[in-house]
Amino acid sequence: MKISGELTFPGDKSISHRALILGTLTNGESTIDNCSNAIDVESTRLCLQECGVPSERVLSRITILGGGLKRPDHPLNCGNSGTTARLLTGLLVGQGVAATLVGDESLSRRPMGRIIRPLQMMGATVEGRNGHLPLRLKGKTPSMGIKYRPPVASAQVKSCVLLAGLGVPGSTTVIERTKTRDHTEIMLKILGADITTTDNHVTVFLLQRPFKPFHINVPGDPSTAAFLASAAAVIPHSELILRSVLLNPTRTGFYDALKEMGAGIQLLNKRDEYGETIGDLKITHKPLKGISLGGTEIPRMIDELPILGVLATQAEGTTVIRDAIELRVKETDRIKAICTNLRRMGAHVSEREDGFVIRGPTPLRGASISTFDDHRVAMAFTIAGLIAQEPVKMDNPEIMSVSCPDFSDLLRKVIS
Ligand code: S3P
Repeated sequence: MKISGELTFPGDKSISHRALILGTLTNGESTIDNCSNAIDVESTRLCLQECGVPSERVLSRITILGGGLKRPDHPLNCGNSGTTARLLTGLLVGQGVAATLVGDESLSRRPMGRIIRPLQMMGATVEGRNGHLPLRLKGKTPSMGIKYRPPVASAQVKSCVLLAGLGVPGSTTVIERTKTRDHTEIMLKILGADITTTDNHVTVFLLQRPFKPFHINVPGDPSTAAFLASAAAVIPHSELILRSVLLNPTRTGFYDALKEMGAGIQLLNKRDEYGETIGDLKITHKPLKGISLGGTEIPRMIDELPILGVLATQAEGTTVIRDAIELRVKETDRIKAICTNLRRMGAHVSEREDGFVIRGPTPLRGASISTFDDHRVAMAFTIAGLIAQEPVKMDNPEIMSVSCPDFSDLLRKVIS
């Protein structure tokens, strides 16, 4: 078996959420092409519909009509999506819309205090249940801008505060210790918002008038592409071209790591579109070696660490992941999920509070995999299954649709 051929991808999930959310602040109809078909993004779209924002999906094109948000009649169901819950809260708070936000079991366990605190500092009335969903927004526009240093590196927290800041007199600043993905800032700039950015500071000012409607073609999701790139990197004789992938430097940590591990990676047709860097990636199999990662590198590959764990089992030497405690509050505790499943497959893994250490190379054996109802765990262990000596059984493969309903089809296209 080898991986070969070319693939294009559904649009980036983070940019798709933001395009929908900012589409509500325009005075007309915007078009989002190659919008992600992730269930998470559909959660955002349907929540916005509940808030009186019409939108329509025809294949991968979404049209959305801006013109104001209204108080929803029902609780907004954010499903499994942290981005929906946190960004939507920021948007609704800034626009003074009262609402209740709920989510599935996993989302209801995830920390919301990290957005409640700054929003309350702005004067918004936001209540959670012990720092968790359901969140109740009382519909009072916040009274003052703040200068906020999030205690955790989180683009969702940053974006929540910035979106709320669009409805606050004066300025709202977020100061990051470690830079996180900056798609919200990029899109706000392109749309003509009053926004300034320096290295780790972002300041937004009150939105004086609606944005003009826009058209965006969402670049391919690098986090989904990472699973296929990994298959090509680890399976002998593979060569795979991934077309039109988002290559924003806040998102390419995984590809830098893959290169450092020794995989063949070539960047072709680098270009800029809608403020974002895009390119094609050619991945070729080469023997891999272990690496050490931590610090500011982690937010640049936070969603790719489960698949990096799988790759590490096939690399010569030791791979060490530090400073990744955030993985414990993702859709599941991803440190535990990676270590538990890799151990079942016979890998040499030790779990650390803020990461893991893996010694390779180890042939993986077939096993029963628990996805912990986490889409990225399911995709990572689908790739592990390709290199395992016996078949892998998985408890909930359908969960992959949370970020990529087409994952099995994409994989099938390039396996020969
Ligand atoms: C996201 C930010 C990251 C990432 C998530 C999507 C976003 O979360 O893990 O999948 O779109 O802003 P945090 O910002 O909470 O780390």
